[in-house]
Amino acid sequence: MNDMSATPVVASPETVEKKVFIKTYGCQMNVYDSTRMEGILAGEGYAAADAPEEADLVILNTCHIREKAAEKVYSELGKIRVMKAERNASGKDMVIAVAGCVAQAEGEELARRAKGIDLVFGPQTFHRLPEYLARHRETGRVVVETEFPAEEKFGALATRNAAGHGVAAFLTVQEGCDKFCSFCVVPYTRGSEFSRPLDQVLAEARGLAAKGVREVTLLGQNVNAYRGAGAAGEASLARLVTELSRIPGIERIRYTTSHPRDMSDDLIEAHAGNAKLMPYLHLPVQAGSNRILKAMNRGHTADSYMALVARVRAARPDIALSGDFIVGFPGETEAEFEETLALVRAVEYASAFSFKYSPRPGTPAAERDDQIAEDVKLDRLHRLQALLMEQQQAFNAGCVGRTLPVLLEKPGRQSGQMIGRSPYLQSVHMEIPAGGPHIGSIVETRILGVGPNSLSGQYVNHVA
Ligand code: SAH
Ligand code: SF4
Ligand code: F3S
Repeated sequence: MNDMSATPVVASPETVEKKVFIKTYGCQMNVYDSTRMEGILAGEGYAAADAPEEADLVILNTCHIREKAAEKVYSELGKIRVMKAERNASGKDMVIAVAGCVAQAEGEELARRAKGIDLVFGPQTFHRLPEYLARHRETGRVVVETEFPAEEKFGALATRNAAGHGVAAFLTVQEGCDKFCSFCVVPYTRGSEFSRPLDQVLAEARGLAAKGVREVTLLGQNVNAYRGAGAAGEASLARLVTELSRIPGIERIRYTTSHPRDMSDDLIEAHAGNAKLMPYLHLPVQAGSNRILKAMNRGHTADSYMALVARVRAARPDIALSGDFIVGFPGETEAEFEETLALVRAVEYASAFSFKYSPRPGTPAAERDDQIAEDVKLDRLHRLQALLMEQQQAFNAGCVGRTLPVLLEKPGRQSGQMIGRSPYLQSVHMEIPAGGPHIGSIVETRILGVGPNSLSGQYVNHVA
């Protein structure tokens, strides 16, 4: 690129096209939803802006899971409001939309608390975005929509084109949660469990494959509770995986997040028998103490979780396990926290996410009067994370010397370098010979080294 050359200034189509900037917080489902919103807006003539100040429409796709996540939205809104004022001063407008789980949880209150917001809509109704924009344009009023018609949303989305994808894509198959863990806002923000019909999911996957997607990650708040309506009755997640693995071009299948209660035999068997199903399982346990698990309303014990892990490993011995943990749930004693450490030692995770308990408005655990002091939570979090990090490094180190198939996803920082993912979801970088395989190829890679967040390898050969 030669930016020294003097290019005559001409009106390019970009100067007349509307632009949208979407900032996404939270889980992969929000990432998926943002992609779908981009797709909808592309149909309305919106192109992606590189920065919010350039955008006619800014959407914050928000997360309500912990206090910090929700607070980020308010501080971001403060900044966006300044940009809006600057645009207004130069005769341009900016529509500010808050979508996602904070929008769902706070609705009208959000619009009242943070001035300058034009649209507020929850995760279930973003397919009506063009209508909200029109209504706002016509009335000049704030539009707030927080209904729950999940079925209608997926029906509407199925006919629209999603925006561009890389070689790995998310695909939401199930949404919502009926588990009501006592700490969690998801059942309130995403509504009750709903599965998309089998054919709708397969059609979307075929569309992704046609665009060059080779790896699909099936998403759901409780993805293994998937029960999609199909011609031959309800299809389980295992059945969906089988059907997906028959789609030409789809080489890898993953799914997240699973609940231990919904880990059915057929899904465990799929890990033994289906080579396209990747050996990685995110199976949150949250805590190792049965008393705490009961207070969390998890519906499983530490022992039932351990027994499940043993069954999964019997089916697929090399499976990489991942989990979520909460420390400092109300009333958690030091001894109970140590039971979490003991469970982690017994399982040996390849990766994990761990959090300090955050009281969420409207959830039963937030009402309890035995909340744990912040410094105690922080101390427990540090101890747990040190152990989990040790295990992650041990898992990665165990890969050194092995030859693993890596799906090439993007170029690396240095020329000739490429970055991809191992079956265990590790990031792997390597040198690719000139004229060698492209992004989207699966290459055998000999693992040579372990960095803090990735592996380095040597390209062996191109397999698919
Ligand atoms: N549906 C998934 C994930 C839900 S949210 C599941 O059931 O596993 C992702 C993670 O956030 C949870 O697994 C939990 O570890 C964490 N989390 C949820 N609510 C929380 C809270 N109030 N405080 C701290 N962490 C929380
Ligand atoms: Fe939240 Fe529990 Fe549902 Fe997961 S299973 S989304 S933690 S209520
Ligand atoms: Fe956050 Fe909503 Fe996902 S609360 S974790 S964005 S389901």
